[in-house]
Amino acid sequence: MDGTVWTDVDDFITGTLLPDDPVFAETLRAAEEGGLPPISVSAPQGMLLHLLVRALGARRVLEIGTLAGYSTIWMARAIVGGGTVVTLEVDPHHAEVARQNFVRAGVDGVVDLRLGPALDALGAIEKEGGPPFDLVFVDADKKTYPEYLLAALRLSRPGTLLVVDNVVRDGQVLDSTTQDPDVAGTRRALELLGEEPRVVATAIQTVGSKGYDGFALALVTS
Ligand code: SAH
Ligand code: DHB
Ligand code: MG
Repeated sequence: MDGTVWTDVDDFITGTLLPDDPVFAETLRAAEEGGLPPISVSAPQGMLLHLLVRALGARRVLEIGTLAGYSTIWMARAIVGGGTVVTLEVDPHHAEVARQNFVRAGVDGVVDLRLGPALDALGAIEKEGGPPFDLVFVDADKKTYPEYLLAALRLSRPGTLLVVDNVVRDGQVLDSTTQDPDVAGTRRALELLGEEPRVVATAIQTVGSKGYDGFALALVTS
């Protein structure tokens, strides 16, 4: 079993279960033409985010790490009744490609893209003192995951769901002596969720078109 069959099965799942909406392919094409790295969530993963937003009836979604806005669009399409996806991106070119994708997808009215380092944006959002988020998707630089999770907790309420991408990375998360700050950050983020009394959490290993990886899910309880 290798990446070829994982990708073929992802294609089968996508063709069998997912809506045939050209906006998603157009979004990925724009990302590729813009020279952005091919690291957006897969289509089945995008649909998982969509289903979680819908199941929660989420009106306020926070995404840390926009890239071309592919995952943002999956979530924005699940928001009903005047909700917002706030999405944070540090790279001006990524943000520009994403903005065009939001317009093409017809979700630019639903998405609030904040350009700049995510930690700065998170501080600003805290200062604004708006309502808590219903779902937070953490998917930016892995070395900063622990800080992102702590900020996400400050912006949460009991019932908020935290979703964290790329927590397995080919099993690299097992390496307690890693010199890679991204692996260390991911590992620390899982430890933090395990130690944090305000959440119940798990992590699920995945295979698919993005290889062997996984995501963590944490429900804020208090
Ligand atoms: N969620 C996207 C993929 C995000 S890739 C999707 O699945 O479609 C990670 C993104 O995080 C990249 O665009 C990168 O530029 C951005 N990023 C990296 N460091 C960041 C930081 N400090 N603040 C905000 N964004 C950051
Ligand atoms: C990378 C980042 C991601 O968010 C992802 O889902 C896959 C790969 C990366 O930086 O390599
Ligand atoms: Mg990711």
